[in-house]
Amino acid sequence: MIKHLVSAEDLDRDILEKLFDTTDSIKNNPKEYGACLDGKIVATIFFEPSTRTRLSFEAAALRLGARLISTENARDNSSGTKGESLEDTVTILAGYADAIVMRHYEDDSAMRAAKASLVPVINAGSGRQEHPTQAILDLYTLRECKGTIDGVSVAIMGDLLHGRTTHSLIKLLARYKNTKVYGYSVKGLGLPEGYTRFLAKAGVEYIVCKSFDEIPCNVGAIYQTRVQRERLADKSMSIDEFRIDAKAMSRMSKNTIVMHPLPRVDEISVDVDSDDRSVFFRQAHNGMYTRMALLKMMIGE
Ligand code: CP
Repeated sequence: MIKHLVSAEDLDRDILEKLFDTTDSIKNNPKEYGACLDGKIVATIFFEPSTRTRLSFEAAALRLGARLISTENARDNSSGTKGESLEDTVTILAGYADAIVMRHYEDDSAMRAAKASLVPVINAGSGRQEHPTQAILDLYTLRECKGTIDGVSVAIMGDLLHGRTTHSLIKLLARYKNTKVYGYSVKGLGLPEGYTRFLAKAGVEYIVCKSFDEIPCNVGAIYQTRVQRERLADKSMSIDEFRIDAKAMSRMSKNTIVMHPLPRVDEISVDVDSDDRSVFFRQAHNGMYTRMALLKMMIGE
């Protein structure tokens, strides 16, 4: 059992398997879970924009019978604008709610919030560092598609520097046996050394690819990511060679699924949407169910 979810490193294989089994059960019998969080209040406080994470957490809490307090644009609308520290804000929220779901633009924000909070803090994205609940839904979708995660290979692509979803994903992949990661990044946006070291220490092979063609055609999954132009000084960078379209997919095996945490801009062409191997909308849908399982585990048991 975990008190806070700050990093994917907080999740071991037993916790993941429990989350996945609960998610399966919720998907199959949603009505049975409608009163799990009766009487609980969940606070969502987002200092960066979000569609999926905030709304799926809120839908998850409501579907479990909880009530919500929420600030969707906390960077402008919370008392942080008056100079209040994150620690003070979280201390106050912990007196109002049974759990705090927070997204923040600073890398160490979730860790600081967890230290200050008497109630569970769930990291819904911290700067360019981590997004552990995205990794849970990614892994759940991978397991749903492949039947197992042991032995799976994943090619992470795009912006691996700012891509907090990839940082959390590789940490979870390292919990499984014989997983392998390929990395194909936009120039200057490669996986930070801390994560390559993490993989090496965990015994996960990390293979850098210099072109899309270097990714093996039978890789288990391609995990595409958006270049986070909002975090770049030069916003004009071309990503043409990284775009996945129907032609790029024609080279890949029938078993290679295409994943993306979303939002996408143009790094996955819409002509891939109807390909049976595309699972990015399924990932987003699974997000609500995995977040129901997480909320149940953290404040409903
Ligand atoms: N994948 C993800 O974090 O999406 P949002 O930014 O819309 O929450």
